[in-house]
Amino acid sequence: MKLSTGIEGLDRMLSGGIPKGYVVGVIGSYGLGKTTLGLHFIYAGLRNKERGIIISFDEDENSILESAKGFKMDFEKYSDLLKIIRLEAEEVKYSLSKIENEFFEIVYEFNAERVVIDTISVLETLFDNAGRYKMLSSLRNIMKTLGVTAMITSEVDKNNPNYSKYGILEYICDGLIALKLIRKTHFDEPTFGIEVVKMRRVNHSRKPRPYTITEFGISVFEEAEIV
Ligand SMILES: Nc1ncnc2c1ncn2[C@@H]1O[C@H](COP(=O)(O)OP(=O)(O)O)[C@@H](O)[C@H]1O
Ligand SMILES: [Mg+2]
Repeated sequence: MKLSTGIEGLDRMLSGGIPKGYVVGVIGSYGLGKTTLGLHFIYAGLRNKERGIIISFDEDENSILESAKGFKMDFEKYSDLLKIIRLEAEEVKYSLSKIENEFFEIVYEFNAERVVIDTISVLETLFDNAGRYKMLSSLRNIMKTLGVTAMITSEVDKNNPNYSKYGILEYICDGLIALKLIRKTHFDEPTFGIEVVKMRRVNHSRKPRPYTITEFGISVFEEAEIV
């Protein structure tokens, strides 16, 4: 079974959507639409009566609700199906195993089908490589145990937009979607490109396709070429 991302063009790039139970990384520099993509994914679930949880290290609940409203997504209508949790990275690092237990409990008790973690980079920054790997694989294992379908967003490596900031997320995820800014010269208006870098056992398109962010959120033009 596949879950709609809430973005038609992206669903077509994925030949239907994200396989149920997958943990998918979404990477991209600031402003490219990671949070927005997460909102689409959660909203698609809500409209389908699937419960969703957004765990945010960046924005508080109000800011997330305002963004959703800005994209004409009526989160309020589904408030009983939605939980938004704001976490402070410092606190999470300080008591990781406690938070892991709580995270498990919350997702389990709320009976969530979709989870978005936005952005993991804030938390990753506080660990060394071994710690980051441990933290990410533990999060992944929790979500696998619960059977939720999840998106984890991350900033990119400054020198390579195909990799997450610390280069670990892509290995622990079942799939990876990259948002890119494509600029031919410094004087040209940039184009946004979306690419499915990996999606285990899915026959997906590999070509970056253009997308825009408007008052209705992200639109992906999966048949257009990036010029
Ligand atoms: N209502 C809107 N209409 C058009 N574009 C918007 C709207 N709200 C946000 N955006 C665009 O979306 C971008 C924010 O995307 P966001 O998902 O927050 O990116 P990220 O999480 O990757 O930093 C903004 O920089 C802006 O360009
Ligand atoms: Mg964001």
